[in-house]
Amino acid sequence: MTQKLFIPGPINIAPEIFTAMSQPMIGHRMKEYAELHGRVTTGLKRLLSTEDRVFLATSSAFGVMEGAVRNLVKGRCANFCNGAFSDKWHDVTRRCGKDADAISVPWGQPITPELVERTLATGKYDSMTMIHNETSTGVMSPLAEIADIMRRYPDVVFIVDTVSSVSALPIPVQALGIDCCIFGVQKALALPPGLAVFTATEKALKRAASVENRGYYFDFMEFSSNDDKNNTPSTPCISLIYGLDCQLQRIFSEGLEARWDRHRLMAEQTRSFVRERGFQLFAPEGYRSLTLTCVENSRGIDLAGLKKRLGERGYAFDDGYGKIKGQTFRIAHMGDLQPAELEEFLAVVDEEL
Ligand SMILES: Cc1ncc(COP(=O)(O)O)c(C=O)c1O
Repeated sequence: MTQKLFIPGPINIAPEIFTAMSQPMIGHRMKEYAELHGRVTTGLKRLLSTEDRVFLATSSAFGVMEGAVRNLVKGRCANFCNGAFSDKWHDVTRRCGKDADAISVPWGQPITPELVERTLATGKYDSMTMIHNETSTGVMSPLAEIADIMRRYPDVVFIVDTVSSVSALPIPVQALGIDCCIFGVQKALALPPGLAVFTATEKALKRAASVENRGYYFDFMEFSSNDDKNNTPSTPCISLIYGLDCQLQRIFSEGLEARWDRHRLMAEQTRSFVRERGFQLFAPEGYRSLTLTCVENSRGIDLAGLKKRLGERGYAFDDGYGKIKGQTFRIAHMGDLQPAELEEFLAVVDEEL
């Protein structure tokens, strides 16, 4: 049975996207591709409020997350860690042979500007990574306040994962001074998996140019020189880029503010639902994700059983991630999901509870 997805990615895809993706194939060195590439990167710049370079990589998010540390860490990297994906990013940084420290807070807590300030004030780091919206814990860290701190450290490259938050709230990449903003498209952007997007400031490109052993597939210099011709270093996932072209048009026709409001509304809807049923939210007040709600299993529910029953009724439900699986569950309300669809799902959860 096909299940409607309420897991935090991949998520439900609008039928128009699949139609757009089934357009006839073109060659990636043909002018038709250059037109598509130019249109999509222009749309992404509008979405991200930036004039920085925007690149398209054929991989999931971790391809570029690895690429970013290979290209941008020259000395030592501070990997801010507050959940499964940020912990893994530290591991990946080390596996790339880079000097790096995990600056960790307990899962469920945000990365705070104070922690960033304290860490960078040591003068040990030339780069930092953080995840804006930790999908494993439903914690959204205060990006604007952290960006204010980052302005005091112009020699530190600021690398941010926005995989599960992009387009759900304003993330003005240029105004925030993010040097490299990275996301895959299968979560907040509601596309099938396989495409990752990243931005790069001049500072980031300058750093990359001075770093050795960048490899080939994610070499930012290769992306930059190919993008000058509206192209990519290797054959891109053209069908998905057609899908992204369609999705950008859909986002702009909904209106960015309407999209942001819809996400806020669905987050509030979900938080009230779980609270009224006696559960506690995993993230502290003020740091709760707008795209998924991570809930403490404070009623000791058999989450595996609940997941199975919901699956039988046609709904994919998430019973927690990594070391908090079973202790928490997550309800995703991202992408193109509408409040009425969420309400329908929550009513079914209610019956099964
Ligand atoms: C915040 C965040 N970053 C990175 C990833 C890893 O993405 P991928 O599996 O697309 O490489 C995920 C996946 O869930 C995520 O939620």
